[in-house]
Amino acid sequence: MSFPSNFLWGGAVAANQCEGGYLEGGKGLSDADMLLGGSHTAPRTFCPHIMEDKFYPSHNAIDFYHHYKEDIKMFAEMGFKTFRTSINWARIFPNGDDSMPNEEGLAFYDSMFDECLKYDIEPLVTLCHYEIPWAITSKYGGFTNRKTIDLYLRYATVCFERYKNKVKYWLTFNEINGATEPLGQYNGIGYVTPKDLAGNEPIPNNHLEDDPQKRFEGLHNEFVASAKAVIEGHKINPDFMIGCMICHITWYPLTCNPLDELAAQEKDLMFNDFCGDVQVLGVYNPLAVAYLKNHGIDTSFITDEDQAILRAGTVDMYTFSYYMSNCVSVDPNAPDIGGNLIGGLKNPYLKASDWGWQIDPEGLKWTLKKIASRYPGVPLMVVENGFGAADKVEDDGSVHDDYRIDYFRSHIKAMSEAIDEGVPLIAYTTWGCIDVVSAGTGEFHKRYGFIYVDRHDDGTGDFSRSKKDSFYWYKKVIESNGEDLD
Ligand code: BG6
Repeated sequence: MSFPSNFLWGGAVAANQCEGGYLEGGKGLSDADMLLGGSHTAPRTFCPHIMEDKFYPSHNAIDFYHHYKEDIKMFAEMGFKTFRTSINWARIFPNGDDSMPNEEGLAFYDSMFDECLKYDIEPLVTLCHYEIPWAITSKYGGFTNRKTIDLYLRYATVCFERYKNKVKYWLTFNEINGATEPLGQYNGIGYVTPKDLAGNEPIPNNHLEDDPQKRFEGLHNEFVASAKAVIEGHKINPDFMIGCMICHITWYPLTCNPLDELAAQEKDLMFNDFCGDVQVLGVYNPLAVAYLKNHGIDTSFITDEDQAILRAGTVDMYTFSYYMSNCVSVDPNAPDIGGNLIGGLKNPYLKASDWGWQIDPEGLKWTLKKIASRYPGVPLMVVENGFGAADKVEDDGSVHDDYRIDYFRSHIKAMSEAIDEGVPLIAYTTWGCIDVVSAGTGEFHKRYGFIYVDRHDDGTGDFSRSKKDSFYWYKKVIESNGEDLD
């Protein structure tokens, strides 16, 4: 077993999925605040305005806003070396274009980062985790509007200046490649078509009108915003390590039919590598540009001036989320996994979670090795990995989550093997180290945590925290630097 002695073990959450306090401390609405809950089979619903009689899971979430001291103390008890969370942009600029940042919002994160540092936990901070201020979406069309590049840069600069002595590790956008898929239009780039925006009724997420041209333009503007932030961040503190964050799904050809292989290769390029190439290498892969053109996208938004910015603002590290693998085939009758979020085909060799996410630790090893050889010398972080399950609380309050321990054990083993085979992995933050609202379904019921939170889909629960079996297990893993996985 071979984790380096300074390996950053930890856990991850996102502000909109844990904080709650959605209008406290001067915060404005963010895109995530406009979503109702769904389930494995029913999509989440977008509301063009807040409806008083509906339950919005993120509005109180798990109330981390008031519980962060207690929660960080428990992370420290597990031995965390790092804690990944995001800054909710709308806490800092409630309307996106305010003339001054909101001091109360800035002070909240000061206090939260201080709490981490008190326990020698390095904050790892995402600047935008599906948390574009709603005013930017409704007034400017999110990142489809180039003005949002400036608004983002101002926000990023304020954060870099304020926390330059507290935070070293930054991620510019969570899962930026989500915008290559239709749902990423809302979640990723903060865009709703004028027709959907003007409606009065809630709209199921998967019925939101998709505009691929706007979506890829918006994604491009995010690339430019990210590169500009990297350039600015390095001026403010040359020691900053700033990363991209890619949702990496491993795509296998379903069969050895060469056509399945070609389809999987294309999926891997367009879903996984296209965005990583822009952010790590500073260039648009010509194959990706050809794909966009062949699919009717006018790519004239990729100007020479923007390309110079992309080349100058490459990231220092590649970070990614990894949960599952999927299969790809040209056979229209091949059975799919029926999972939410990102679809794919069933792999007969793998089991899946109750939400249809196929469990594949070897896929993580494959991914680590692929990325390490695509971007030689670039340090890697796995910043999300975890198992969403419906936990059962026993009469004595314990939660026996062996299935989660099994999932982590096999994935940590895969990481260890990858390190032995030359992969420069420097950090691992498990997703939802404390139960949070699911991003894909809006459920509390889909739990990832080592720490159970008494909060439920009907809005009941007292927010009390308790330790699951996995809590004690992960503590042992960290203590032994990944040696003791029993
Ligand atoms: C990633 C997101 O896609 O997966 C997280 O960055 C999200 O925000 C996580 O919570 C797990 O997905 P879900 O839908 O189970 O919450």
